[in-house]
Amino acid sequence: MTTVSTAAGGGDSVSRLQVDGVIAQEPPTRKVIFADNLEALAAIPDECVDLIYIDPPFNTGRPQSRKGIRAIRDETHGDRVGFQGNRYRSIQTSSIQYPDQFDDYLAFLEPRFREAKRALNPAGSFFLHVDYREVHYCKILLDQIWGRESFINEIIWAYDYGGRPKSRWPAKHDNILWYAKDPRDYTFNYHAIDRIPYMAPGLVGPEKAARGKTPTDVWWNTIVPTNSAEKTGYPTQKPLAVIERIIRAHSNPGDLVLDFFAGSGATGEAAAKHGRSFVLIDNNPESIRIIAKRLAPYGVQFEGCNAILQDTNLNQPLLSPIQDPDDDTTN
Ligand SMILES: C[S@@+](CC[C@H](N)C(=O)[O-])C[C@H]1O[C@@H](n2cnc3c(N)ncnc32)[C@H](O)[C@@H]1O
Repeated sequence: MTTVSTAAGGGDSVSRLQVDGVIAQEPPTRKVIFADNLEALAAIPDECVDLIYIDPPFNTGRPQSRKGIRAIRDETHGDRVGFQGNRYRSIQTSSIQYPDQFDDYLAFLEPRFREAKRALNPAGSFFLHVDYREVHYCKILLDQIWGRESFINEIIWAYDYGGRPKSRWPAKHDNILWYAKDPRDYTFNYHAIDRIPYMAPGLVGPEKAARGKTPTDVWWNTIVPTNSAEKTGYPTQKPLAVIERIIRAHSNPGDLVLDFFAGSGATGEAAAKHGRSFVLIDNNPESIRIIAKRLAPYGVQFEGCNAILQDTNLNQPLLSPIQDPDDDTTN
């Protein structure tokens, strides 16, 4: 069993950390399941998962969608200028979406939260990623399920991108609630936390400034940049950097990470990059298609996905070069 570990050089979690980034010796589990998550969770044995990160639909009241846009070279009618001054016209190729409206959001989440608790091992942690619309209701529900003492942190993921309404403060953050199954004994690899620059490096001296500092519970990180290789075209995709920070700090190489609202598979990629096993679940065929392409280099096992994968061209790139100009929100 791993324990809370804050000292370099001692303890099981620290020694395992030294091989972070290297695939564990055991063949890793890398599984993607197409199913309603409540059904799929019931098949997961008790206490076998080390870390759960979930990012359910936020109950925004409108479907979450992203258009796929392809750029066609068109010197006559092209409205964009690209590489070497060539002109391009954009055409819509597809639209990916999932519903995001619930009559009773908490009634939907509650049985899934309970399954998550059952599946989590005693040193494990549970992360719920939501936003200002539902976070307070979720917190009360989670306190009831886990016990208030199991609540450790609310992490604010702050970003700065997209439209700025003039009638109120622009909402530019998400909320990530962290619960530890056992608040006295949980995995927290302090020394695996990435360091960030000081805001006023001149005040701390050159050595400290060069080393940087560990982040607080407010994490500044850009949304997935529109033209980055990371962008998959799946609506509400979360940045790898945010999920990687959670995975490195709250699990060890070889551990099993579960995400049962998998979307674009960001949690799977973050887990694989750091030598963790993963199980991803989603009930949207478009999610499975994107995950299959995104995680192809890692050799994934699929469950219930045959019909979807039969008509998926894994060689087609995830996203075309010019993106949806309206794509400026996380949820
Ligand atoms: C906010 S997105 C997750 C985005 C993901 N974190 C990422 O970075 O790409 C929520 C996902 O939950 C999935 N979902 C919603 N209800 C579900 C259910 N009952 N079972 C499985 N997946 C579900 C949706 O299809 C969607 O892909």
